[in-house]
Amino acid sequence: MLVVANPVDILTYTAVKYSGMPESRVIGSGTTLDTARLKYLMGQHLDVDPRSVHTFIIGEHGDSEIAAWSSTNVSGVPLDDFCEMRGHHEHQASMKAIAEKVKNSAYEIIEKKKATYYGIAMSVVRICSAIIRDEKSILPISSMMHGDYGVDGVALSMPSIVGKNGTEGLVPIHLSDEEQAALKQSADVLADVIKKADI
Ligand SMILES: NC(=O)c1ccc[n+]([C@@H]2O[C@H](COP(=O)([O-])OP(=O)(O)OC[C@H]3O[C@@H](n4cnc5c(N)ncnc54)[C@H](O)[C@@H]3O)[C@@H](O)[C@H]2O)c1
Repeated sequence: MLVVANPVDILTYTAVKYSGMPESRVIGSGTTLDTARLKYLMGQHLDVDPRSVHTFIIGEHGDSEIAAWSSTNVSGVPLDDFCEMRGHHEHQASMKAIAEKVKNSAYEIIEKKKATYYGIAMSVVRICSAIIRDEKSILPISSMMHGDYGVDGVALSMPSIVGKNGTEGLVPIHLSDEEQAALKQSADVLADVIKKADI
């Protein structure tokens, strides 16, 4: 079961809880779209093919999402080094601005054309291909968390191996202390909604 409707992490949690299906077979599109937008914008900024940018947006698909900068690299070269190489010396500020733009792009698109559809359609195609072809691609889909990174009892996005059986598990990317704290905060936002909505 692939959940795309928003709020996607809350609905993924709900689907896991009430569908009776094995947890690993219930996933949400999560931050796959946000990650694609991040790669695209970074590709533009660094003047490099976005497919060579390895990065993830993690956490909630929404306002508390996090760009996992500490594990970001361009073809294996750490982000900071690649930025310097491309002549970007204010890269911390640029990365912050890019992450904000990713976070706000859905609002911007909705304001201009009422809804978002092409981007999410591409993301759904990507996830479905990984499932149908059993690609075992690493995608930031939303799935139930059980203690990894100190997060438990909510569905949110972390890089996961996706194939014909749904998710085969998380990929343990490195997070800085700051990113880990932000992830915990993102999980708390979701846990609060689950509690208030009494799901
Ligand atoms: N996860 C993402 O990144 C992402 C991106 C874009 C949109 N979305 C979500 O996708 C969902 C759909 O967006 P949209 O722009 O296509 O919305 P939409 O309003 O155009 O389409 C929703 C459709 O659902 C139908 N529907 C409503 N209640 C139903 C019910 N009880 N049973 C059967 N059908 C029902 C409506 O008739 C309508 O055709 C929204 O929840 C939106 O937030 C998610």
